[in-house]
Amino acid sequence: MTTRYRVEYALKAITNTKSLLLNNQGLLAVPFVLHSQPTVTYQENSEGLKTVAADTYQRYAEIMRDVENLINDHIRHHERNAPGKSKLKLLVPSVGNFFTKLDIEDAFKYQDNQRFISRRRFVAPSFNDIRLILNSAQLLGLARSSDVELVTFDGDVTLYDDGACLTPDNPVIPRILRLLEQGRKVGIVTAAGYEDAPKYYGRLQGLLDAVHDSSTLTAAQKQGIIVMGGESNFLFRFDQDSDVRLTYVPRDEWLLDDMKAWAEDDIKELLDLAESALRECATNLNLPAGVLRKDRAVGVYPVNGVRINREQLEETVLVVQNTVERSTVGSRLPFCAFNGGNDVFVDIGDKSWGVRVCQQYFGGIDPSKTLHIGDQFLSAGANDFKARLASTTAWIASPAETVDLLDELETAVGSS
Ligand code: IMP
Ligand code: MG
Repeated sequence: MTTRYRVEYALKAITNTKSLLLNNQGLLAVPFVLHSQPTVTYQENSEGLKTVAADTYQRYAEIMRDVENLINDHIRHHERNAPGKSKLKLLVPSVGNFFTKLDIEDAFKYQDNQRFISRRRFVAPSFNDIRLILNSAQLLGLARSSDVELVTFDGDVTLYDDGACLTPDNPVIPRILRLLEQGRKVGIVTAAGYEDAPKYYGRLQGLLDAVHDSSTLTAAQKQGIIVMGGESNFLFRFDQDSDVRLTYVPRDEWLLDDMKAWAEDDIKELLDLAESALRECATNLNLPAGVLRKDRAVGVYPVNGVRINREQLEETVLVVQNTVERSTVGSRLPFCAFNGGNDVFVDIGDKSWGVRVCQQYFGGIDPSKTLHIGDQFLSAGANDFKARLASTTAWIASPAETVDLLDELETAVGSS
């Protein structure tokens, strides 16, 4: 779970990586430096300032088009089985595969209209500006070159505030109902790992009741929502006849073939190792935390409502991740160690598996027709990041941004 502050922090952390976002930010910094005129005294709505802004807008748009073309070239290299040879790969070695085109120039124009990025004289295009431009580009790419058949949502920070519940007044509810009415599928892919349906009903009650009470959704459309808990460990389907609206789906009905090879002995061994690393961190860093061991996860969480400071959380994630990665069992089993904002958890599997399970459950939906929306996209200590391997993604920083994004998606789909 990531608060807005944490995203800002994340932005600094990612500065050390050659990420696509940062690369774009760097490219836009050049015209900002060359064209912005902070020392000239303008009336803020004068003709002189408008000319400067128009010039800057033009330069930004051109750069965005160039990046878009780099990505198109990268996609073509993938299609021709030469993924490592693209220019983008040379510029940004960590860049992965793109499931759709990204309409970055148009996305820039849209976001500039919202945020007036090119009108600013003192504040250069920020990481948040670029994050939102890339989200818009992804939505346009999905709407124009593919279609959205499945939307998966993270829980905390994406649908509701950190540690909170989805209450009936949450504005995301009518948007999710709209997706279902359109025949799209919805998966809640959360790290929150419980084996029993009432716990998820407690967290998601507002949404599940709205689906239950809806008279416009058909019975089949209501079956279009599922909950995948513990990243990729517990699956629940909607159940109109259940008091808690959900029914547990046994693993043998949904495990992917690769997941069937995950041995129970390995799961125990990996969690034992993670638990001992977490306990050592708790002692070493004097964390005000307890250790919680579950069937498919182990975590440290604060006791007595105290907050664990950010550096302690990050240190704990990196220690446990490093410990498990270096073990032999860590090479046999996928796992996800992440910083939940005020706790650290290690789960068996990760959200790429969770999203793939949703895709398979709904009959084999392609990654290019799947969108995962989440708040955790840092490579270290974040869990939504892994969904990038299985689907297109959008990185939001608050539940309000998720609502805006779903409305933007509706407009993009409607106008394509
Ligand atoms: P998400 O943002 O929906 O992925 O939820 C992550 C949060 O769920 C964590 O920060 C924890 O506070 C909570 N949580 C509860 N049970 C588990 C578990 O078994 N694994 C990981 N996180 C859990
Ligand atoms: Mg989250």
